[in-house]
Amino acid sequence: MSIHMERLPRTIVLFRAGEASDQVISRAAAQEVAALISSEDIGSDAPVLACLDQRVLPDAVEHLITADWRCVITWICELAVRGAPAIGAAGAAAVALAAFDAAGADEGRAFLQHVQEAAVLIGDARPTAVNLMWATQRMVALAEQRVDAGEDARSVACALFDEACAIQREDEEANRRIGEVGAALLPQGCAVLTHCNAGSLATSFYGTALGVVYAAADQGKLVRVYADETRPVCQGSRLTAWELARAGVPVTLICDDMAASVMAAGEVDAVIVGADRIAANGDVANKIGTLGVAVLARHFGIPFYVAAPTSTIDPDTLTGADIRIEQRSACEVSAHPIEGVDIINPAFDITPADLVTAIITERGAFAPQRALDALG
Ligand code: MRU
Repeated sequence: MSIHMERLPRTIVLFRAGEASDQVISRAAAQEVAALISSEDIGSDAPVLACLDQRVLPDAVEHLITADWRCVITWICELAVRGAPAIGAAGAAAVALAAFDAAGADEGRAFLQHVQEAAVLIGDARPTAVNLMWATQRMVALAEQRVDAGEDARSVACALFDEACAIQREDEEANRRIGEVGAALLPQGCAVLTHCNAGSLATSFYGTALGVVYAAADQGKLVRVYADETRPVCQGSRLTAWELARAGVPVTLICDDMAASVMAAGEVDAVIVGADRIAANGDVANKIGTLGVAVLARHFGIPFYVAAPTSTIDPDTLTGADIRIEQRSACEVSAHPIEGVDIINPAFDITPADLVTAIITERGAFAPQRALDALG
């Protein structure tokens, strides 16, 4: 099977305004950057962040652009950019934008304080995915170290720009490695079921759960992916199904309530999902509905794998019960509320470690109870 990763757009692109190119971001976004430079709204060396707008997929492939870190918070809250590793990378980029913002006005401690305060606001944009806090804290630690060493604000801001780019590069490398590790666990000619979107769109590139899919497809091991639609926001039907079809992987879209019957029919050899946070005891927070799929997989004797970079493992969170679950708007569940009807919309659930066959990371596959071993 030929896999066409080159057909997938990049989720996050951080660049200097003068380097905007429609090779990596949509033509409209590149033109928008050029217009900003020519109207002197931004200088050609200003850092700009482009994020693929996942709210409008699959109808349109458009990048949003901004030089304003506050705008990135809105995009993260509104799911324009989503998926744990992707919001980590976008959050890091937002800290770099905040540093350039402050570098024009402040030096030393005042500059650092601006970066720290912005990083707290960015890190709070969504509470469940630990990658966001992990990335913003990594950026702040670098800023503190450079300021303490006496570097001027402009050069610290440049170092933060490079660090945000490094986070993206490392994420893609980790995903490619996760793909290799995970593909080795799958049998020849297998079909897998996945939930939500843990694909290239949810990461800097390549994906975690779908990274395993791409690697297995590339090796000729995988015949089909069943994609749960993943109510209420439909990351499965709008994003996973689109992404896989575009990359050339055979995909069948199912409603969430069809997973049991597809498994009962013997159509699924393995389940692979991503994660937003993995607690020290191996409990996994992932998109709402993951727990149900894990229970089904156990019932039908199907292995249930969680694919995630080590940045998703949180040694400071002891169990799943300690993970804060984001509660989102009722409008996502029903656009037309009925008087007298209450609606809940928890965005994630917790799958207990004992339902997980293995956690697949860039450092190998681990029994969930040994998740911390992946951190070395
Ligand atoms: O609300 P979302 O779309 O950000 O939720 C995303 C998920 O739950 C993904 O499965 C998870 O972040 C892993 S992405 C590689």
